[in-house]
Amino acid sequence: MSGSTLDVLLRATDSQTLGPASDQAALTLKLGLISDLNGSYGSTSYGSAVKRGVSLLVQQQPDLVLCAGDMVAGQQRSLTSAQLQAMWAGFEHSVRSPLEQAGIALLPAIGNHDGSSQKHQGHWVYAREREQAALFWNKHHGDLSSGFIDMDLFPFQYAWRRPGLYVVVIDASSANVDSSQRQWIETALNSTDRNPDDLCLVMGHLPLTAFSEGRARPGECIADPCGLADLLRRSRVDLVISGHHHAWYPSESMGLRLLSLGAMGSGPRRIIGSGVTAPPSLTILEWSQNNNLVEEISFDLNTLQPLPNDRLPGSLNVPGFAQARRRATQWQRGPLN
Ligand SMILES: [Fe+2]
Repeated sequence: MSGSTLDVLLRATDSQTLGPASDQAALTLKLGLISDLNGSYGSTSYGSAVKRGVSLLVQQQPDLVLCAGDMVAGQQRSLTSAQLQAMWAGFEHSVRSPLEQAGIALLPAIGNHDGSSQKHQGHWVYAREREQAALFWNKHHGDLSSGFIDMDLFPFQYAWRRPGLYVVVIDASSANVDSSQRQWIETALNSTDRNPDDLCLVMGHLPLTAFSEGRARPGECIADPCGLADLLRRSRVDLVISGHHHAWYPSESMGLRLLSLGAMGSGPRRIIGSGVTAPPSLTILEWSQNNNLVEEISFDLNTLQPLPNDRLPGSLNVPGFAQARRRATQWQRGPLN
């Protein structure tokens, strides 16, 4: 897309912005939610939808961007450490640095292409990917530092807060979220650092249930999701954010509010049962602490227009996976009925 066409679209989108967060000072938070940016294995550059997405974020000026993983294109054991470093340098150049220059910090979750947690005989299968992901993020966490509560295992699992917001990032870079991580999640969610009035988000790459065609199979969703869902529900999590399925679908499932993010990059997928390919997208979430109201707007990164959720299927039903029911994108914080 030419610069001038993009400018026109951004100007058109400007009339649909949610308004600057500073209008209501600390009482309103505006978050950019993105996922799945990577191209083909080893790629150091990003497609046009990612570029439009970064421009849209800079224009929207969220207080913070959360990325649900797959920022680079690893998960191939033939990739050398130098290639992995070059991919992260590409991410820095195209995504993280432009956001930072616009004053927008980026909270990452690690995806299977960034540093999969898959193990074989007790060892990481993608140990080099995980090492490079850790090196990159420990060098490039910008001004996130003041918000870390528990960062021993950053960037894989950590808790982070700022006034009004409490985020627990989980390592769902493979289907295996093991019992020790589940114990850590419970501890993190019940920390005394969490204010009961905070909007509480849990973000991980793989989802708790299936959203897209071809991903409704073992290995593409968190294994044994019911116990984890129970834990998140008991811990009064407001929203569980995931990527990996490359299809935007706001839902309720297992007594939780879920948000499957669309891919920002390549690899579009069809929502289960819809026959329609999900476009590249990102979501802007705004939370007003005043009235406890959350509003999400998701933008199609081909057209830069908001995506209507009434065109999504009313529910997704696949044997062996928890049903997901489409939900409203404006909601009151608090337990589901
Ligand atoms: Fe993924």
